[in-house]
Amino acid sequence: MHSIGYRANALVTFALTILAVMCVIVSVSDWFNHPSPTSQVEVVNINWFSKNPDGDDEVSLTMYITANLQSLFTWNTKQVFVFVAAEYGTRKNALNQVSLWDGIIPSKEKANFNIHVHNKYRFVDQGSNLRGKDFNLTLHWHVMPKVGKMFADKIVMPGYRLPEAYR
Ligand SMILES: *[C@@H]1O[C@H](CO)[C@@H](O)[C@H](O)[C@H]1NC(C)=O
Repeated sequence: MHSIGYRANALVTFALTILAVMCVIVSVSDWFNHPSPTSQVEVVNINWFSKNPDGDDEVSLTMYITANLQSLFTWNTKQVFVFVAAEYGTRKNALNQVSLWDGIIPSKEKANFNIHVHNKYRFVDQGSNLRGKDFNLTLHWHVMPKVGKMFADKIVMPGYRLPEAYR
């Protein structure tokens, strides 16, 4: 009674329904993964610290970044974008955030790493507020899933301080 076309249509509809249900299950299963990434960042060296001709403070530092982000990876994780930022307050802005380094982690195997890096992006203040400045380093991550919503979080590492004098 049913034509081939009708059956093919029904089959495709059924397949798409199964696929949609599976996508929902995969993304819901991510809610039950409670990741516990760890990170430590050590400022190994202040390479130089000066006031630019335009009056803005700039610092160059070397960091030793240790991180284990393996628990962010599930079977639904495509990749993880990660960045380290310096965060500090000034009179003008309660929160200044300067990205210092970033990277893309393509797999769980690559998610446990230690690296020695200079700041990849310039650590410049919009003013001369950096001498003796207390700051936090934060490690942020954005998890890009194969299906479902992207999610982001961070680890805050407080207690860093820039030198009192240019060098
Ligand atoms: C630095 O971290 C501390 C402790 O988590 C927090 O109280 C403070 O607000 C942070 N400072 C900035 C500028 O985000």
